[in-house]
Amino acid sequence: MIKKYSRAGKIWMAMQFVACVATAQILPNTTIPMERPRLHFTPSINWMNDPNGMVYYQGQYHLFYQHYPDKPVWGPMHWGHATSTDLMHWQHQPIALYPDSLGYIFSGSAVVDVYNTAGFAKKGETALVAIFTHHLPDAPKDKIDFQYQSLAYSVDNGVTWTKYAGNPVLKNPGIIDFRDPKVIWYEPEQKWVMALATKDCITFYASTDLKNWATLSEFGKTAGAHGGVWECPDIFALEYNGRQVWVLLVSINPGAPNGGSATQYFLGDFDGKSFTAFDTVTRWMDYGPDNYAGVTWSNTGNRKILAGWMSNWNYANILPATNWRNALTIPRELSLQNAQGQLLLASAPVKELEAQYLKATTLKSITTATTLPAAAKQALLPCRIDMDLTTAAGFEIQLTNDAGEILSVGFDDSHQQFYIDRSKAGVHDFYKGFAVKSTVPRFKKGKLNFTLLLDINSAELFADDGCSVMTAVYFPVKKFTTINLLPAAGAAIQQVSITALKPAPVAVK
Ligand code: FRU
Repeated sequence: MIKKYSRAGKIWMAMQFVACVATAQILPNTTIPMERPRLHFTPSINWMNDPNGMVYYQGQYHLFYQHYPDKPVWGPMHWGHATSTDLMHWQHQPIALYPDSLGYIFSGSAVVDVYNTAGFAKKGETALVAIFTHHLPDAPKDKIDFQYQSLAYSVDNGVTWTKYAGNPVLKNPGIIDFRDPKVIWYEPEQKWVMALATKDCITFYASTDLKNWATLSEFGKTAGAHGGVWECPDIFALEYNGRQVWVLLVSINPGAPNGGSATQYFLGDFDGKSFTAFDTVTRWMDYGPDNYAGVTWSNTGNRKILAGWMSNWNYANILPATNWRNALTIPRELSLQNAQGQLLLASAPVKELEAQYLKATTLKSITTATTLPAAAKQALLPCRIDMDLTTAAGFEIQLTNDAGEILSVGFDDSHQQFYIDRSKAGVHDFYKGFAVKSTVPRFKKGKLNFTLLLDINSAELFADDGCSVMTAVYFPVKKFTTINLLPAAGAAIQQVSITALKPAPVAVK
């Protein structure tokens, strides 16, 4: 039976270009047995999209996420919940937020209310406060104001959550896309600042108690990419050469460099009222097809750690799945890097990944096709491959299996770009544009470093200290069993190491 969506629900989906949601309701689930990734977070069952409310508190990383627990397709949104002490091993927790009379629970953020500004904590307690979008699916026909911002709080370290009785705290002024609040504490003025996606720009609001919000400013109507609706902002400062640089992340869908959904960013200043970008150029945090809605954990001090949804609205609802769908990227540490005089936002797998390292094998001076050795007694995947090239020359890494499928990842010297080619890497007929080669430009010159993180069905590429980044998923019918490194004719690879990684299965409570 085709589920009937309300007008607000339909509008939202049309805006998202997710017509495939409706299709997925009538298609039988693709029956390829989907092995779970071994190092990447997946929901215990059914549907997941954006990471939400990520906050570090009392030794625990909390991860909430857009979740529909009843089906492996998008539907009435809840906040699923998981916790970790090391960003690698996750434990599923009971669902934190359920839809209610104000609507579905869309994306948002969470903060530690250290000074009890909202008054939710009693003596001796500290409240964690979640700020999220309520999306009313059954809004009357003539309404476009069916998204507004609400609060929930926890006074038991994030175990249980209570919705604020005064919701919503930020009403909709008549903007059809009015969602995904990211709230930060702005220390110089001792106030909360909210970055909210408001259709084709980000609107900033301020509050001293998380309950009353005043409009500050707007950014972005004429900056960056506008191929789709703006969603899931994040704003934070990073140090570069002793200077504070503000970063504004904005996810957009569609309009990504390799199709569908992706996250762009702006660098600039934020004075507590307005964000002023250094320039209005479009820059992408990750050029691959599968890193969307990524935001950072709050309360992590100077470290800025991001996780993204490892999927794309073009096909998220219809990609092969059994009883769960979609994973998150590996948590990544963000930094600023200088690439030929241009400041870029760079990403690298968090250092916590090192605790998963098993055997590493290093090979030097490779000039001909070479099979990279799998660590003895360990499965080939997950693993990471690290390469150094003193002079940047072309190379390709090929993963192959008994079914004749190939995933190719490499550097194209003549076009100065890195690529992930999944066109022959497995099942792709569920979506016409899935079998593609995605590319990211090289921004640096000279010697090159390259890291590839491989799980059962995902590749995450970080080149030139994380200046060129790409993430892609794929669905081989059989596990990849061989990794070959093919240097281009005349090229010499100084060093390559392959490190087997210990799986970190997600524990279900
Ligand atoms: C981004 C997004 C958000 C919204 C959520 C709904 O992927 O569209 O804008 O809050 O998903 O699930």
